[in-house]
Amino acid sequence: MLGLSGRQDLRGFTAYLLLLCLFISFPAPSHQASRLGKRDFKHLSQGEMASLVASPDPIRNIDPHSPNSHLSKILIPRAPDTANNTLVREYIISTLKKLNWDIEEDAFNATTPYGVKRFTNVIATKDPKAPRRVILSAHFDSKYFSSYPQNQFVGATDSAAPCAFMLDLAEALNPLLDKRMARLADEDDDMDGEDEDLVDTTLQLVFFDGEEAFKDWTATDSIYGARNLAQKWSSTYIAPNSKRRLIALGWDTELSTIEHLILLDLLGAPHPLVRSSFMSTAWLYDEMVGAEKRLGDSGAYAYGDDDGRKWSSYFLPRGNADHNFGGVEDDHIPFLKMGVDILHVIANPFPRVWHTLKDDASALDIATMRRWNLILRVFMCEYLGLKPEGSEKSRSNVHRAEYELVSDILYALTPISQPLG
Ligand SMILES: *[C@@H]1O[C@H](CO)[C@@H](O)[C@H](O)[C@H]1NC(C)=O
Ligand SMILES: *[C@@H]1O[C@H](CO)[C@@H](O)[C@H](O)[C@H]1NC(C)=O
Ligand SMILES: [Zn+2]
Repeated sequence: MLGLSGRQDLRGFTAYLLLLCLFISFPAPSHQASRLGKRDFKHLSQGEMASLVASPDPIRNIDPHSPNSHLSKILIPRAPDTANNTLVREYIISTLKKLNWDIEEDAFNATTPYGVKRFTNVIATKDPKAPRRVILSAHFDSKYFSSYPQNQFVGATDSAAPCAFMLDLAEALNPLLDKRMARLADEDDDMDGEDEDLVDTTLQLVFFDGEEAFKDWTATDSIYGARNLAQKWSSTYIAPNSKRRLIALGWDTELSTIEHLILLDLLGAPHPLVRSSFMSTAWLYDEMVGAEKRLGDSGAYAYGDDDGRKWSSYFLPRGNADHNFGGVEDDHIPFLKMGVDILHVIANPFPRVWHTLKDDASALDIATMRRWNLILRVFMCEYLGLKPEGSEKSRSNVHRAEYELVSDILYALTPISQPLG
């Protein structure tokens, strides 16, 4: 630092104060979003976890050996604007319609290195009237290759398996979400002490089209679907609603109803390593790690000859000096730029088979996919405050990360807008 004196020093200090004021006056948008999303996780009891592990069968939907599993229906070449892409999209839609989810198709045309192509994102919402939502997402397109045999690429980890996990999750949580909606509709029921805040949040699944670059990954040749949807939601204004806990006036767009966007990618191969990319969702990352651990401790990873007692985590521990790792460019980027809080669950390093013909059924590991299904079931159940069957009363106490409380206090102390004077 330069040693300044007298007036100069004072001027420097004034400038510093001004900068500080500017910083305080316009907090990063991600802070606003994380205020929307703060919530308590009520950990499930052993009995409740056991019921989620047992039903539905955590393998049926992701079994590559069964031609009728969700996974097998998705595991075909499905580059954007092809008949196969439409087939997969329609399969996803019909599966979720059978569960009575609300379906929105976000169709648009965009220019690619191979001319104008048609893309369609699928947005499935359990309760479209809910004031807020948590999004679980993955891309359902496979990478385009121009010639045989590469054009038979099926992207098993990229991202057929994650899409199958999402359909499995919808089936697993659907009865619990239905029960909660029925209790809500029944005015005589006092919700049995259920946190009103929790019931305002619904689950939304987003299947992005056009994640892959047609040629080389650039800002304009990649994430076609995510860019279109983020743009659309950020310019779709909605009626204000106190349940959105908005702090920024004039931010009443569809985006403001998103608590978190959780993005799955490159999963299904054995021994994945996932890391925390953003400090704003480090606590959410820790909750997912916690769900994995409690499942593991309960012996839930037993499969085949493996008794499930010896397992190692799919998640890299967060160090004390953790910072925004920033992560890998993916469908979350346009939402991140608009201030949405992101949890990016991606194997890093990428699976060895990445973008090769070997990323097919043989790259997938059933025990690993089964574990992903269980982690997502427990994690989303706890996020949404759902009550599986099982010993209803034996939930562990409210758990809340300490730094989240600290950030509460910081928010309370931070002036939302402060005149520069
Ligand atoms: C469409 O999927 C089928 C498998 O169901 C595959 O055999 C066929 O090659 C795919 N078509 C194209 C154009 O990739
Ligand atoms: C995309 O372009 C095609 C062909 O020009 C047209 O038929 C279709 O309506 C367009 N779709 C959208 C969503 O704009
Ligand atoms: Zn890819």
